[in-house]
Formats: sequence, structure tokens, C-alpha cells
Amino acid sequence: MLKVFGANLSGMPFIHSTARIQIPWNITMKHRACLGEHVNAYSLGKIEVLEGATVAQEAYLCTGTHDFNKPNLQLITKPITIGKNAFVGARAMILPGVCIGDRAIVGAMSVVSKDIPDHQIVAGNPAKIIGDRSL
Ligand SMILES: CC(C)(COP(=O)(O)OP(=O)(O)OC[C@H]1O[C@@H](n2cnc3c(N)ncnc32)[C@H](O)[C@@H]1OP(=O)(O)O)[C@@H](O)C(=O)NCCC(=O)NCCS
Repeated sequence: MLKVFGANLSGMPFIHSTARIQIPWNITMKHRACLGEHVNAYSLGKIEVLEGATVAQEAYLCTGTHDFNKPNLQLITKPITIGKNAFVGARAMILPGVCIGDRAIVGAMSVVSKDIPDHQIVAGNPAKIIGDRSL
């Protein structure tokens, strides 16, 4: 495992030069994991992008929210995991605490608020299952 600005990188992941990473030491990228152009990894909490997973252009991985019942809007962080060989489409929004299953596909501009099981294709806001990734 290699540490770059505190990020945990193993094998040969790819991070596009325009991707934004809020707190590098909260990021783990495995072999052939990819953050594409202008991806925003808002890593107030942990983000793991597992082997072969792709996060496409301008997707937003959001690990932070607030407790809106508290006057000080207490920060809440929850981790995000992008499963092995999963694909997150362009401009998708992945909300705090969500785990995208292995080989799952998230359609472009989808808003994902709940865990996505392995192999499922989801799309829309909120993201719903529209298919199964057979191959
Ligand atoms: C999610 C995706 C993989 C689905 O592809 P598919 O399995 O061929 O699905 P289809 O195009 O047949 O669409 C199935 C249904 O889902 C809808 N749908 C597909 N993608 C959608 C999306 N991103 N948001 C909302 N609805 C979507 C279609 O309108 C269709 O609805 P219908 O059944 O009511 O007609 C594809 O639409 C997608 O978003 N790809 C990612 C594109 C991208 O991010 N590119 C940039 C990186 S290269």
C-alpha cells in the first residue's frame, strides 16, 4: 500500500487530475479503481473505491451531512463504498452511508440514497433498480 497525501492507494488506481478530494487520508483506492474528470470526493468520512470500480465524470461522493434537529447543525459523516468493478455514471450523487455493490451500475445523474445490491443497474432520483448486469 502506497500513501499519497495520506490517501491509501494499492496496485495502480487512477485519479484524474481534475478530481477533487476533500480529505485525502479518508480515501482508499484499490487496483484499477478510477476517479474520473471532475469527480468530487467529499471525503469528510471514509470513501473506499474497490478493485476495478469506475466513478465517471462529475459524480459526487458525499460522506457528510448535518443533524438538522440540532441548532448547531452537528456534522454527521458516514462512509461510502464503491464495490468491485462497479460503475458510477456521470454526475451521479452518492449520499452518505451508501454502499454500491460489486459490479453494480449507477445511471448518469442518479441520486443514490440507499445501498445497491451486487450486479444491479439503478437509475433515477431516487435511484431504483432498472435491471441486472448479467455479464
Ligand atoms: C444506467 C444505464 C447504464 C442504463 O442503460 P441500459 O441498461 O441500456 O438501460 P436503457 O437505456 O434500456 O433504459 C432502461 C430504462 O431506464 C431509464 N434510464 C436509463 N438511464 C437512466 C438514467 N441515467 N436516469 C434515469 N433513467 C434512466 C430509461 O429511460 C429506460 O426507461 P423506460 O424503461 O421507462 O423506457 C445508462 O442509461 C447510463 O446512465 N449509463 C451511464 C452513462 C454515463 O455516465 N456516461 C459517462 C461515462 S462514460
